[in-house]
Amino acid sequence: MLHDVPSARERGPLAAAPGTGRARHLWPVNPRQPQDGELTSDVVTRTRRVLLLEDVHADAAVHLRKAGFDVDHRTTAMSEDELVESVRDIELLGIRSATRVTRRVISAATHLKAIGAFCIGTNQIDIPAANERGIAVFNAPYSNTRSVVELAIAEIISLTRRLPERNAALHAGVWQKTAAGANEVRGRCLGIIGYGSIGSQLSVIAEALGMTVVFYDVADRLPLGTARRCASMQELLQLADAVTLHVDGRVENAGLIADAELALMKPGSILLNLSRGSVVDLAALHRHLDTGHLAGAAIDVFPDEPKRSGAGFHHELQGRSNVILTPHIGGSTQEAQQNIAAVVAEKLRGYAVDAATASCVNVPVAVAAGVSTHPAAARPNAGH
Ligand SMILES: NC(=O)c1ccc[n+]([C@@H]2O[C@H](COP(=O)([O-])OP(=O)(O)OC[C@H]3O[C@@H](n4cnc5c(N)ncnc54)[C@H](O)[C@@H]3O)[C@@H](O)[C@H]2O)c1
Repeated sequence: MLHDVPSARERGPLAAAPGTGRARHLWPVNPRQPQDGELTSDVVTRTRRVLLLEDVHADAAVHLRKAGFDVDHRTTAMSEDELVESVRDIELLGIRSATRVTRRVISAATHLKAIGAFCIGTNQIDIPAANERGIAVFNAPYSNTRSVVELAIAEIISLTRRLPERNAALHAGVWQKTAAGANEVRGRCLGIIGYGSIGSQLSVIAEALGMTVVFYDVADRLPLGTARRCASMQELLQLADAVTLHVDGRVENAGLIADAELALMKPGSILLNLSRGSVVDLAALHRHLDTGHLAGAAIDVFPDEPKRSGAGFHHELQGRSNVILTPHIGGSTQEAQQNIAAVVAEKLRGYAVDAATASCVNVPVAVAAGVSTHPAAARPNAGH
């Protein structure tokens, strides 16, 4: 499955010490690490090209250039046709969520060794096609968790206090000084659907604000603090004053929250979706806001999102003062982008230079000479 070694001279040692997360060396390996900013002939044996799209943080380009790579760093995403034309001699490709790496792109990328998703999800990459070509895929599953959590908290407080409506009214010249519909979050119930990295951290911070937390997850998850697990999503929907979605992008989650689920929510409750655009039926949400059954909503992710910042965007939820609309910025903070850049660029460098596959999405880790396992099996205590 993995790439041929071009010459015996360039071939490195074949396996690393147990537990190091290094696979067999796959193609030219540097005999030593470069010092800061150093480019020497024994560090770079030939031009190794990297294409970074979607304005990934500049630190990623700096890191890879220091390691001797020739980096083309672009601000926008590419269409499939553009990508097919651009990837032919690229060894490492860095994208975020707006670029789709299809089977056609992968077929055209004859030198491609690894793809770095500078985000959490990897659904935008055809992983089976990458597997067939032995192309490693890396991501940054935890780098923007905190940013999403902080936005969710801000939106829960804003909607519960009716800030968007008061803000819109005053911008329109109306002094709406009233406590009607405005509540503290303290003592209210937060329902978290999807208790993974983001959902569970949100749980801790919401409890610190005095909220009662209930959650529902299809997997077995340890309740943090005094959070209580619900037996079903339906139970949660009937209990919570604020429902927030943090599920992953598996196919079955499309339309997870539609008319029937919204109807179960408490009158006057609010809904947040910062997970995936396909998870909520937005037309049904619109109806439940129109009837006044729901008091407000915050939507950060949409079924069809523009590929570039500054593009036009039109949606039926626009113009409602009780709806916070944000352009998929849950994870978009300077801190998160910097973390992601550092994590993914180092994973790409580690793979290209040291054949390191630790925390790779799709390539097995060699834990000892001749023994290959899935990365999960390399975790301490895995299998016990
Ligand atoms: N808005 C943004 O900018 C932004 C940024 C980062 C992540 N995200 C998205 O947030 C979501 C959560 O991210 P994460 O890192 O916490 O993921 P995660 O994989 O750690 O957690 C997802 C959890 O959802 C659970 N789940 C899946 N389907 C479910 C269902 N139908 N019902 C209940 N539970 C279900 C899983 O078992 C898992 O525990 C992902 O979809 C991710 O793409 C959005």
